[in-house]
Amino acid sequence: MVIKAIDEGSSIASQGLRIAPMRKRDLPQIQQIEKQVYPKPWSLGVFLSELAHHKERSYSVAIQNGLVAGYSGVMYVLEDAHITNIAVDPAFQRQNIGSALMYSLVMEAIDYGAKNMTLEVRVSNNSAQRLYQNFGFMPVGVRKGYYQENNEDAIIMWAYDIDLREYRDKIEFLAQNRGLNIRRKRHRWARF
Ligand SMILES: CC(C)(COP(=O)(O)OP(=O)(O)OC[C@H]1O[C@@H](n2cnc3c(N)ncnc32)[C@H](O)[C@@H]1OP(=O)(O)O)[C@@H](O)C(=O)NCCC(=O)NCCS
Repeated sequence: MVIKAIDEGSSIASQGLRIAPMRKRDLPQIQQIEKQVYPKPWSLGVFLSELAHHKERSYSVAIQNGLVAGYSGVMYVLEDAHITNIAVDPAFQRQNIGSALMYSLVMEAIDYGAKNMTLEVRVSNNSAQRLYQNFGFMPVGVRKGYYQENNEDAIIMWAYDIDLREYRDKIEFLAQNRGLNIRRKRHRWARF
């Protein structure tokens, strides 16, 4: 069965922030952010390859005043949604953009039919771990030396049962509490 996004329109808007599908034309700005936030940034080729796998991957950008302020990506494997990347331009951090990207990503995964979400995060990356914990992710294991450039361990985090009403209510409550003022258009997936 092939699952295809049939609605790639705008998904959320909050205080001038727009979350939209990532396009090739966004990649120059995205690469500038990658270089600032990661010791081993993804190359242009990696991004192009990820965008080409659009049936089981989904990448979004957060646009503020016409500029790419952040971006995120997810890969679907059966019932699991694996977050592959999330980053916010340092100039825009601590302004809820990471939370808005996470909210959009989680809701899209629920629309897709995913039941669980997972990701890896550096042991030293406290800010990202806090962001994920806000969205119900819990540490469940460690991948030793996962980040080869400095041999750093990765914490594996999971959010389970995201398809249950209880989880969705918690995330909607979080979004309201953070004042994201989100108007969200449901992402529709077609199964052919
Ligand atoms: C992680 C990241 C995406 C968060 O983006 P952001 O837009 O700053 O996040 P938000 O403003 O929505 O913050 C949400 C919460 O995350 C946590 N957080 C974010 N930055 C933090 C920091 N510097 N220190 C501590 N907690 C932080 C806090 O709990 C924060 O809530 P609060 O502001 O109410 O305390 C951003 O710091 C980033 O791009 N980091 C570099 C790339 C990266 O590490 N990506 C994750 C790879 S696994």
